[in-house]
This record gives sequence, C-alpha cells and structure tokens, in this order.
Amino acid sequence: MGKPMEASGVRAFFSASSEREERWRELHRVGKALAAGSGQADKLRQEAQALVAQLRPLEDLCGYPGGRLMAQLSERLKDGDGASLARLTQRISMSLLSNSYRDDPEAWKSDQEEDDPHIPKVLPPSIGRGQARKPYCEVLIVSPGERSTWGPMCDGIRRLRRDTDQFVVEPVVVGSFEDAVLAVLVNYNIQAVVMFDGFGYEAQTPVADLRELVSAYMPQAAAARDGDLAMLLSRALHAIRPELDVYLSTDRDVAKLAGADEAAGIRRVFYALEEMLELHLAILEGLQDRYETPYFDNLKKYAQRPIGTFHALPVARGKSIFKSNWIRDMGEFYGANLFLAESSATTGGLDSLLEPTGNIKVAQDKAARAFGGDRCFFVTNGTSTSNKIIHMAVCRPGDIVLIDRDCHKSHHYGLVLAGAQPYYIDAFPLTQYSMYGSLAIKPITDALKQLKAEGKLDKVRMLVLTNCTFDGHVANVERTMLECLAIKPDLIFLWDEAWFGFARFSPFLRRRTAMGAAAKLRAMFADPGYREKFAAAKGTLPDPDKVRVRVYESDSVHKSMSSLRQGSVVVVADQDFSSVEASFKEAFFTHTSTSPNLQIIASLDVARRQMEFEGYELVSRAIQLAVEMRREINQHPLISKYFKAATPAEMIPAEYRNSGFSDYGQPGWGLAKLVGALDSDEFFLDPTRITVLCGNAGMDGSQFKALLSSEYDIQINKTSRNSVLVQININNTKSDLAHLIKALADMSRAIDKRLAEGGEPEQGAFKARVKSLVEDVPDLPNFSRFHDAFRDNPKSKTAEGHMREAFYLAYEASAREYVKLNSKDVEERLKNGPEMVSAKFVIPYPPGFPIMVPGQVITQETITFMRKLDVKEIHGFNASLGLELLKPSALAALKKEAAPKRERER
Ligand SMILES: Cc1ncc(COP(=O)(O)O)c(C=O)c1O
Repeated sequence: MGKPMEASGVRAFFSASSEREERWRELHRVGKALAAGSGQADKLRQEAQALVAQLRPLEDLCGYPGGRLMAQLSERLKDGDGASLARLTQRISMSLLSNSYRDDPEAWKSDQEEDDPHIPKVLPPSIGRGQARKPYCEVLIVSPGERSTWGPMCDGIRRLRRDTDQFVVEPVVVGSFEDAVLAVLVNYNIQAVVMFDGFGYEAQTPVADLRELVSAYMPQAAAARDGDLAMLLSRALHAIRPELDVYLSTDRDVAKLAGADEAAGIRRVFYALEEMLELHLAILEGLQDRYETPYFDNLKKYAQRPIGTFHALPVARGKSIFKSNWIRDMGEFYGANLFLAESSATTGGLDSLLEPTGNIKVAQDKAARAFGGDRCFFVTNGTSTSNKIIHMAVCRPGDIVLIDRDCHKSHHYGLVLAGAQPYYIDAFPLTQYSMYGSLAIKPITDALKQLKAEGKLDKVRMLVLTNCTFDGHVANVERTMLECLAIKPDLIFLWDEAWFGFARFSPFLRRRTAMGAAAKLRAMFADPGYREKFAAAKGTLPDPDKVRVRVYESDSVHKSMSSLRQGSVVVVADQDFSSVEASFKEAFFTHTSTSPNLQIIASLDVARRQMEFEGYELVSRAIQLAVEMRREINQHPLISKYFKAATPAEMIPAEYRNSGFSDYGQPGWGLAKLVGALDSDEFFLDPTRITVLCGNAGMDGSQFKALLSSEYDIQINKTSRNSVLVQININNTKSDLAHLIKALADMSRAIDKRLAEGGEPEQGAFKARVKSLVEDVPDLPNFSRFHDAFRDNPKSKTAEGHMREAFYLAYEASAREYVKLNSKDVEERLKNGPEMVSAKFVIPYPPGFPIMVPGQVITQETITFMRKLDVKEIHGFNASLGLELLKPSALAALKKEAAPKRERER
C-alpha cells in the first residue's frame, strides 16, 4: 500500500483526512498544468501517477470518486491522453474539495458514460441541481465475496434507490474486519454498516499503521479473531462511533442470533441476501431516526400555520414588529421565522419543557442516546442553571459535598441554595501561569478516608469536578470514580463538562467523559469476573454488593456544539434516579423559566442531530487543526521567540503523566501509546484548548487579548497573567489558523523591530517586563478554612462548613463590616485578630473562581494575592468599601445558636 498517512506518530492519524485533501489539491494543480499544455507533460503525468498511487488505498474506502472513476483515472494516466486526464482530475478534485459530489450527478460521470448504457446512473435524477438537496451518506458493506463481485453488488444496491427516498446512500465495500475498522475511522461519510457474515479478519491490503489503529480501539481484537467476527466488528465499530447503525446479513439461525446479548448493538439481523429491499429500507429508517428532530420539525410546521395568538408574547408571529413604525429593523435583521416560531403557549404540539410528554420528551430521549446517558434534560439558561438544578436535586441541607474549589461559581451558589456543606479541595497549582490545574485523585480519597475515620461518610453525598477545566485538564474519570467508590460506594458524581460535550464524539476523548466512564464502570461491575477481582484487590475496588453507579453530567451544548447561547443539557446515568426523580423535578421547576426560549430548545434538538451525523468528523477535524496550530506556533522560528503553545508536559506535572506523554507530535508516539496514556494517566490535556503563553512577548494576558481584538479582529475569551486561551472548536477552519498565525508573526516582527530600534534602554525595559510576567508571579492562595462558627466540630480534621449560614448572615446589615484592602487594619487583624471572615464570594476575572467564599477565614496568602491582582473585574469586591467581612460579634452569636438549629434543619 502507498502511504495514506505520512506524518509520524499521533499526528499521522489526525492528519489523514487533510493529507487526502492535500493530494487531491495537488492533483488538481497537476491537472490544470496538463490542461494548459505545459511543456513538461511527462513529468506532470509522473507526478499525477505518484499521487494517484498514494491516494488509491484511501480511496478504496470512500464512496466518491469510487472504483469506476479511479479506474478511469488510472487508464487516462496510462494511455497518456493529457487533455482528458486533466479534465477528469479537475472534475474529481473540485467535486471533492467543494463537496459538490454530494448533490451533483455530473461529478460522478466518467467521460465514457454517455456511450455506455450498462454503467448505472450513480445518483437518481431527483437529486439533480436545482432540486431539494437530499442528504448524502455512505454505507459500508463488509463482504466475504471476491473483489470481482463488489462492483455488481454496489450496482444492485444503487438500483434499490427510489425517488421517494429521503437520503442518498452510496455503497462502499471492504472485505475484512481490519478494512472495515479503517474505513469507519477515515471515511466520515459512512453512516451505516452492513456486515455479510463470513468475512475474514485480516486487511486485504496491508496498512502499516492499521494493526496499531485496531488495537488502539480494541486491544483484544486480534486475540478474538477466531471468534464471532460479526459481533466483534459491531463492538469495535461502536467503540469508535457509537452512533453508527450496524446491520447483519447472515444465514445462521437469525431468530436465535437476533435475541443474543452480543447482538444488542446490531440494529437488525437479516436472513442472507433474500431481503435486499428490506435492508435498504432499514438503512433509510435508521438514518431517519437520527435525522428527525421532533421539536425543531414541529416548530417549523408551527411557524407555517396561520395561528391567532391571544397570549402574552406580542412578538409571537411578528405582528408587533412588522407593523411597527419604529422597530421594523428588528424584524428585518432577524427575519420573519424567528417570530413565526415564537409562542408562549404549549399547545399546537409545542410541548412543555417543564412537563414534557410530546416532542420535547422524544427530543430529550434522542439526546440521551447521543450523549450516552439514560436520561437527558434540556436546560435553556446555560450550564450555570444545569449545575444548580443538580445540586438542589440530589443534596439535602447538611450533606457534605466534596468539591474542587476553583470550579465554576454556579456550583458554589448551588451549594448555598441546597444548604449542603462544601468540602473544598484545592487543585494542583500552575503558579507559573497564574492558574490552577485540576483536582488530583489523592486529595479526594484522602478527604474521603478522613471523613470515614471521623464517622461522617454517611453524610457525604456528592463529588463535584470540572472536566475538562477551562484550560483543558481532562480527568481520569473512570479511575477517579473507581477509587472514590471503593471508599464510599454510593457516592454521586457531578462532572461539569460545560466545555467538553464534544468529547463524546471523539473515540479518543470519550473514555474520559462522565458518560463514557459510567458505561465502562457499569460493564465492569456487571462482569461475572468482577467479584474475583474485587476479592483480590483487598479494598481498593468498590464492593460489588454495595456499589451504585450514579453519574450526572452538565454540558454547555452552546460552548462546543451548534446550539444557541445558553443551550445546555443535564445527562444522567444514575441507577438510583428513581430515588431523586421527585426532587429533580422540583429543582428543575425552581430554576427553569416558565417561558423557556423555544429557539434554544429547537437548537438543542438540532445540535444533537448534527453531532449524531457529523460529530465524529467535526471533532476529528477540530483536533487535527488544534494539533497543527500547536505545531505551527512552537516550530515557527519567529513566533516561538515570543509565544508558546503550552505543551501537555508544561500544563500537567510529570507525576500525573506516568506514561511520559509530553506532546502531540512526540516522536515515537503512535496511536496505541497515545491511547495507553489516555487510559492510564491521571490527567490528559485536551488538544483543542491551547494556552498561548505571551509573557515572553512582554504582554500580560489582558493586553494580548486586547491587541488581538483591536488590531487583528481575533476574539479570545480567557486570559491569565501571562497567557491567553485559544479554543479550537468545530467551527474553526484552516483560514482561522492562518489568521492567528499571521497575527502572531506580525506581532513578533513588531517586537523584533521595536527592540532593534530602541536599543539597550528598550531591551532592558522589555527584559524587566518579561521577568515580572514570567518569574514574579504571585502564589495562588489555597482554600484556608471555614470559621469555627460554621463548623459542626471545630476540632474535626475534615474541612466542610455550613457556607449557607455565612451567606445569609451577611444579609443582616448589622452583621457586616468593611476593611480596606490596603489599610493597616488588615495587617493588624492578620497579626493579632480577630480573624477576618469573608461575608461574600470574591471572584476575580481572571482567574474566575472564588478566592474567598462566605464564612472563609481570610489569610495572609489571600490578601497578598488580592493586592497583586491586576485585574479590573472582581465580583464581590468593591475597592472603595473594602473587604466585606462578618463581624466577630455576629459570628459569636451565631456559634451559640447554630448547633440546635442545624439539628432541627436536618
Ligand atoms: C466549568 C464551567 N461550568 C459551567 C459554566 C457555566 O456555563 P454556561 O455559560 O452555559 O452557563 C462555565 C462557564 O464558563 C464553566 O466554565
């Protein structure tokens, strides 16, 4: 085989699709040169030959251009007809690069087609230009037959197409397990797979990296190759892309087979070849099931109906806008549909988000399937609300919740609402970048062990973790849950995956999502061999008789997928959900507007459809782009003088990377090793979240952000003292990459010039500025402790506290006092008391997490950090008033009456 993947190691896999495009682009260039009658025809033909040879193995796995056009390309190359070779290469490469082959029959025509009545028309006439576009996709056929039978088989499948079909499905045939795995990995168009029983294991064309690819996804595949290959393949394909519909055609006992556990992942089993039309219809139905967006579809229909409204929402149907003399521009800007699709009623099939029984319910069920949970709830006010709903639903006053102190503020407020006691645990610091990393497993299990030692384990309800963090730290979700469940087998987990929803659609990252790990734990505990493992593990694994898998994920669909702003979901895999179902409903009612935005609900429905069809492609491309971006920044001779994309080795201390994984382009790191790191390392860095260090350019994060925005129209979100965060999403393109790289190169050039022209004084000042940004970084303050007034037992070694009492105590004006941050009073009180106790959450942006929470004792570290902070936005702090504190007298009074009150509340 040629070289479908040229780059080495991990990058190779991610660059496969862009290398394919690159080669077709190259072929297009060669074709054009040939057509122009360049004098170098022979050389150009040789170039074309080499390119086609490299492309062929990959093209065998793709529907377009397909066998016929590729064969014709080879013929043209052989017979030396330059003009027709040029025409053909141009047509194919243009169709591929512009995607026009998806709906343009011309793209599929060979230059002999008109003369040959036996060549079937590839696409039915109904998808010709100018007609409604039917979605195009490909079905992978895994066949035991000789290669010579594949062409006729495809023609037979194409003949089944009817004008009434909703989708155009083009067949691609492979002959083995390994080829099928490779096809599903590299061909994003494949949406369904039909396995004809009896195919073999080994790839018919050996691919250098294939074995590694296969073993990366199914380590046991090669060992199991003599077993039931169809079942094995179905599992392997779902491990890569769970959304694929898999069918089996077999002449085994279909009734028995269809009922078998191993066949659960197979959508339908057919008996031999007797029902090809049924198979075709089943494929279409499977696609339709994913394509259907029940809420959005109904909203579109609703918008077309002539409905009179007598409810409160004047903009519904747009009448208050389009008839207005003064606000018509709003209607022109947003278009009529936005208003036609608005209603404050839940009639007309619009269903109710608060009590869904119709299309919202179906849409949520489909989202649960897509995101891998048992249940999914749409939330129209962001993950801030999703988090509060979960806290309120599962926690009772007095419960202890272990929580990452620098998690999003919605959790801290959620705990206040629920009345649960936070047990704050600090993440590992990345002081050099003025940011926190993530929460390691050991401090969590240490806290659980201490709680156990003090007899408080029954009060512990939940663990809240951010995955991934803003800066890209991805937890080892499975290991975290396993180790915690070994101590507290019914612990509930809330994984805040606000930034990480997309990860479900990457076969690499899925294992590190809440739902991916929950599925693995369920399978592990259900395995008959688990009891033995547990017995041998001597207390380091969860007790099979006690363990419960109770996992909640909150996910800002709007942050990484195509929903409108504030579109969020709660995804649940809780085997005891029935025990909290009623309280979940109450919490949902508490936080959900009675006028939820219909467009957000519809966009959640549509975002799900998109991810089920093209999530794999979009996420793969985003990762590919991010890896490329990192490389461009760090290897560019000019840019890398002043900027750096922080590597996994720089963002994650070595103790959390046992595998030694340090960067994405690391030599000698193939896929199997990468997957090993993903499985074993305590933390992994999400490649799509790129911390660009700018301290060496003499700029702090805010300055750099402002410059990017004002001079280059580049928007970024998060900054730290010496870095900014560049996020690569499913919407980013190579042009975006080029835009940022150009900006960084321009800035670097400008710095070079300024330093050269400014001479020593400029260079000295620059050096000092860099030092202050890169070396003189303030220590990050750890959580100190709750004041004794908020602790059940001040002598206890565990850290939980009744934060809600502090929060509400501060509502009393008589309980509050203020101390100016830079006053001598602060020094005096730090030295001689009384202790200063925060009345408020104080949240500077950046870093964006509370450096003080209500009831927390303020220490020297916090004061030093506050004084060094050079950010303008600090929520909960008014510099002219000073730090808002709880008065010692109020604390003393509370302490007296707290214990009986807490007892009553419980
Ligand atoms: C970790 C985390 N969770 C939750 C949220 C809140 O999400 P939303 O903006 O969807 O309300 C954010 C917002 O930045 C976040 O960073």
